[in-house]
Amino acid sequence: MSPCSAADDAPDGARRVLLRAATQRDHGWLEALIHEPEVAALFNTAPPGAAGPGRRRFIALDCGSGDPVGMVALQGSCLSYCVPPPLWGRGYGSGMVRMVIASLAPALGLEWLDACVLRHNARSCRVLENLGFQFAGLTTREWGALRVPMAALRYRRRIDAAH
Ligand SMILES: CC(C)(COP(=O)(O)OP(=O)(O)OC[C@H]1O[C@@H](n2cnc3c(N)ncnc32)[C@H](O)[C@@H]1OP(=O)(O)O)[C@@H](O)C(=O)NCCC(=O)NCCS
Repeated sequence: MSPCSAADDAPDGARRVLLRAATQRDHGWLEALIHEPEVAALFNTAPPGAAGPGRRRFIALDCGSGDPVGMVALQGSCLSYCVPPPLWGRGYGSGMVRMVIASLAPALGLEWLDACVLRHNARSCRVLENLGFQFAGLTTREWGALRVPMAALRYRRRIDAAH
């Protein structure tokens, strides 16, 4: 099985990606990505209260070109992700979250994935809902550099053997 084949049957619109663990060499690219103003305004940089091991970061690579197209972070079961704004709307976000569900979360032994999204972040809500996440309630959370409580939506999805 090729590393990308888990997403071969992705629904129309989801782009095939491969996830690999981020290394020190990715640091500059990742820092530039999460400080893009459009990303920084929405990205959940530090999910608080997450149980389990420390935060792990993964780089998403386009299966065709091998170019980096996004980042996924997991802290325990808490998922966050981002795509460079020039690449938004091409299916990379959906492809990344799909690979987390299909490959990464099972490999890490996770039974659930949790995500927290600002209420006005319609793109991210769409990605999660398309991939089977269910609304799990409202919360307030300090977000990014602003350090003011903001309304956010919690989503959950069970990870099972068959996807
Ligand atoms: C959320 C994010 C990862 C989505 O990445 P993406 O590559 O644009 O996602 P996709 O192209 O796979 O899917 C976007 C979906 O949103 C939909 N969409 C696009 N613009 C929209 C809008 N203004 N309102 C509602 N839905 C919208 C698209 O139609 C698509 O849904 P569909 O597949 O049902 O047609 C990206 O916007 C991002 O990096 N945002 C900043 C960080 C962030 O919000 N992270 C999530 C919280 S941690």
